[in-house]
Amino acid sequence: MKHSKYSAVIIGSGIAGLFAAIKLSKEAYLPEGLLIITKSQLIESNSKYAQGGMVSVMSENKLDSCKLHIEDTLKAGAGLSDEKTAEFISLKSAKVVKELQSFGVDFDRDENNKLKFTKEAAHSVNRILHAGGDATGFCIENALVEYVLKLKNISVYEQTLAVEILKDNNNIAKGVITFNYAENEYELIETPAVIIATGGIGQLYQYTTNPDITTGDGIALAYRIGAVIKDMEFVQFHPTAFALSEKGTMFLISEAVRGEGAKLVDEKGNTFMEKYDERLELAPRDIVTRSIYSEMKKTGAKNVFLDATHLNEDKFKKRFPTIYAACREYNINPSKDFIPVSPSAHYFMGGIKTEVNGTTSVKGLYAIGEAACTGLHGANRLASNSILECAVTAYELVNYLKKQNLKNNFVKDETISRIIDFYEEKLPNIDIDTNSMFTELRQIMWENVGIVRNSKKLNIAKEKLEKLNQNFGFSYKCRNRADYELRNMLTIAQLITEFALERKESRGAHYREDYPKPEKIAHSREISKG
Ligand code: FAD
Ligand code: SIN
Repeated sequence: MKHSKYSAVIIGSGIAGLFAAIKLSKEAYLPEGLLIITKSQLIESNSKYAQGGMVSVMSENKLDSCKLHIEDTLKAGAGLSDEKTAEFISLKSAKVVKELQSFGVDFDRDENNKLKFTKEAAHSVNRILHAGGDATGFCIENALVEYVLKLKNISVYEQTLAVEILKDNNNIAKGVITFNYAENEYELIETPAVIIATGGIGQLYQYTTNPDITTGDGIALAYRIGAVIKDMEFVQFHPTAFALSEKGTMFLISEAVRGEGAKLVDEKGNTFMEKYDERLELAPRDIVTRSIYSEMKKTGAKNVFLDATHLNEDKFKKRFPTIYAACREYNINPSKDFIPVSPSAHYFMGGIKTEVNGTTSVKGLYAIGEAACTGLHGANRLASNSILECAVTAYELVNYLKKQNLKNNFVKDETISRIIDFYEEKLPNIDIDTNSMFTELRQIMWENVGIVRNSKKLNIAKEKLEKLNQNFGFSYKCRNRADYELRNMLTIAQLITEFALERKESRGAHYREDYPKPEKIAHSREISKG
């Protein structure tokens, strides 16, 4: 196996990973350099597809305040958000926007060169910055990629998976085993700082807005070495994915379209949100999603519609150029036609338990961005709080790491050797059809661990997932990228199901029709592997 050393290794190149990489490279002493490992191309990530924007409480936005933003975040979080974390992140929001601007990100401005703020569900005021109209994620990600490529002390491995984190006899993370699937090559990388920035889990569901990289790898790898994970039952389903999308990933119709006044309607153009919540289309995401789910169940329709015809074509095209182009591909003109939409798995509130600076329960292991669970989102994330969290956790992690000694002191002790041996051995002789297992897993999760859950469905999922897991067979070395992803997806799917079974109440994005009310006292659940 090839062997190398770095002062820090960042796994993942979304906004969290790249923001941390730039700041680490500029501010920390990295005698052995910094490595970014990424599963696909550097730019490929959930981040690249973010549309609506990024929350920021800016002094020039006179209507807003951190107090209001914290209140909205806590309300959406349904009793499980951590108030101190929400306060910390809100107070840092203006600072990280300035940093992003200094890295080349241009947020949209009005004709007087003032930053524009838009609104999304459950925000009490307009406070969401956006870029390129509805291409916020692409604009940020692209600027960060360009910046990273100019920095000399950063190395990048593309088409490479982190497949194992190495922990020594003293339970300290000391390195990573990687697999370059293009070259079929393994590498052992020593590092005193393993940083997980691998994003979410959307691909566990048959219908998702997330691209194919989102298989929960980082959370599964952290769990394998005993890190504490938290709030695994909380999966956010976005109400309005484009219902005509091809299978795999569903194109998103941003909540900002509803923020600009679009209505949810049935095929005849009748609105229905008034039956469910007085906040109508801008009620919290979980409520809008369940309302659509309920309408679809009642009528047997495959989708509902978004009516944005109050916006004329020029206005729509200018404000939402990406969405406009996607609709036009299907011969839909959003200023004349209704847009068919249905709910889709979108965001993961759970993950690796961290402080706001990315430290985890395992020394030497850090997690930032969507893979981390800082407690900001609780049971339900407030729209556009994710990119903000990515930036603030990355920012704080660097402040922490730059005070640490990032010198390697790797010793190939017994615990580490035992794991390396698994990857140096020959592949076990297992003949399975990973693709069909992948499809089955996604279907099990969508049908049984989705928007509306109950004990019967969750137990069906539990049983089916156990069977799939037994058939899978690979514990360490796998044949290819798809096997590694399935290995991780099985771990995460079982954890989500187990947590969902345990939570005998409805709270935020976790809705149990057999326990439709929340318990009086909200509690978070966390576990670690024995
Ligand atoms: P990601 O951006 O997902 O990046 C993860 C990285 O890890 C990728 O580079 C991936 O290749 C890599 N990776 C994964 N596994 C491995 C592995 N085993 N080895 C190596 N590399 C690996 N949030 C907002 O705040 N505002 C929005 O407007 C918004 N809109 C959204 C729209 C869409 C369509 C989607 C899907 C999400 C949206 N979100 C939005 C959520 C937000 O985009 C994500 O939560 C956020 O970008 C996550 O960033 P991240 O850096 O944590 O992870
Ligand atoms: C959207 O644009 O609707 C997505 C925003 C988010 O997920 O925060």
